[in-house]
Amino acid sequence: MNATLPPGPKVHPLSLIADLAGRGPLIVTNPRKYFEDLHNEYGSIVYSDFGIGRFYITNNLALIRKVFVGEPRSYAKADAYKEAAHFLGNGILNSEGDFWQAQRQMVQPAFTKSRLNMFVDTMVEVSDKAAKNLSAEADVSSLSMHIALENICRFLFGEDFAANEKTIREAVHFGNNFISRRIQAPFKLPVYFPSFNNLRFFFHRFELDTILYRIIDERARQNELGKDLLAMLIAAERERNSGQIRRQQVRDEILTLLIAGHETTGYTLAMALWLLARNNDIQQRLRAELRSVAGGKWTVETFDSTPLLEAVVNETLRLYPAAWIIGRKILADEEFEGFLLKKDSQLQTGIIALHRNKDWWSEPDRFKPERFLGENSEPAQKQAFMPFGAGPRRCIGSVFAMLEMQVAIARIVSQYQLTPAQDGEPEIEYLFTARLKNALPVRFTRL
Ligand code: HEM
Repeated sequence: MNATLPPGPKVHPLSLIADLAGRGPLIVTNPRKYFEDLHNEYGSIVYSDFGIGRFYITNNLALIRKVFVGEPRSYAKADAYKEAAHFLGNGILNSEGDFWQAQRQMVQPAFTKSRLNMFVDTMVEVSDKAAKNLSAEADVSSLSMHIALENICRFLFGEDFAANEKTIREAVHFGNNFISRRIQAPFKLPVYFPSFNNLRFFFHRFELDTILYRIIDERARQNELGKDLLAMLIAAERERNSGQIRRQQVRDEILTLLIAGHETTGYTLAMALWLLARNNDIQQRLRAELRSVAGGKWTVETFDSTPLLEAVVNETLRLYPAAWIIGRKILADEEFEGFLLKKDSQLQTGIIALHRNKDWWSEPDRFKPERFLGENSEPAQKQAFMPFGAGPRRCIGSVFAMLEMQVAIARIVSQYQLTPAQDGEPEIEYLFTARLKNALPVRFTRL
């Protein structure tokens, strides 16, 4: 192979320690700028050891397509997921190969159109309940997290889970922080070292596990399993394992779905409501579109008549992708466009910069949902927009998430006029996934 390593910056590990001691490295304080600066200086494929290991950073759409869609079996999930496994175990987000495929096949039937259709009623009920008594000024971050958590809990366990909401939210919040700090740290203590932070992590995990195992065990004792995802998993486990269930595997899958489906959706929904508050013209047009379906029962088909609603969610996902970075590990040396891609290196894509790249988007910083509509819709190249990933490991919950966000927006915007309650951009924390740092107030006036 005559290929050479791509160009890239030299980073001293000590500079990372200085960054972490200060405001934090640019990749987490302003990731969009970080990725843009790198690509402007070094091109579409950048290589560096970044002081913590061998990394390729790319916004080359052909390479992204090859890695995520074309030859996904030549790449594994990025090492960052190993850190997530301390929390989530070996569920479908972290697992690999045949094991992952078998687990994905087991969970997939819960996400078919017909099953999701049965759940739209619940999503309407959850949104209406949350939107019932919105005060003049409400925190859309908390509102959206609540809606997302209740939806996913009802989908998984058929319960609304109010009694456990605080424990779950605190554990998810802490878990996201903990995993992200470990991913960024140039040197890390083993997770079982009894440091204060590690002990807090195990405390939160223990609290969550206690809740989950209680629910799993109670359900496994029942003859009538029910219709939710937990019931489906237990039935599939019994069928595969001669009547037995792998208790920990059920816990890993349930917790994975709970975590993967909660903060991501809550964050996106909050940003969508905030964007609508700031863009009254679009809010008015959306309300007019929603009048055409008002009164009818909401089903998956209802969304065929509300293209602007879907475009609003897509535009929010473009501007504020919860999964702001995704990556893979290269499994064998290879050559791409004359560059050497080395075995065991990490390859990362900054989705947050890809989604605002002016090569693929007109007025990339503007909230313009109509860019997703009509004959000349953007982007011309598919891989320039991938809020849910791509290829076989694309988000299993994407349709669920799109439905619940559209339902919530439709119900809220039909009942309230939204106006901004503060100027400026909200502060965002770029952890394993992105989340709002503080409350995000919006004014609600009943129509
Ligand atoms: C706005 C909301 C959401 C966003 C932005 C999002 C984003 C993503 C992305 C980018 C991936 C691919 C990661 C990769 O390739 O490395 C992914 C995977 C996944 N997501 Fe989501 N997600 C969302 C909501 C949900 C929901 C609601 C659920 C569950 C109901 C869910 C469950 C999962 C699972 C289980 C995987 C792993 C799939 C696999 O590897 O086979 N997500 N998500």
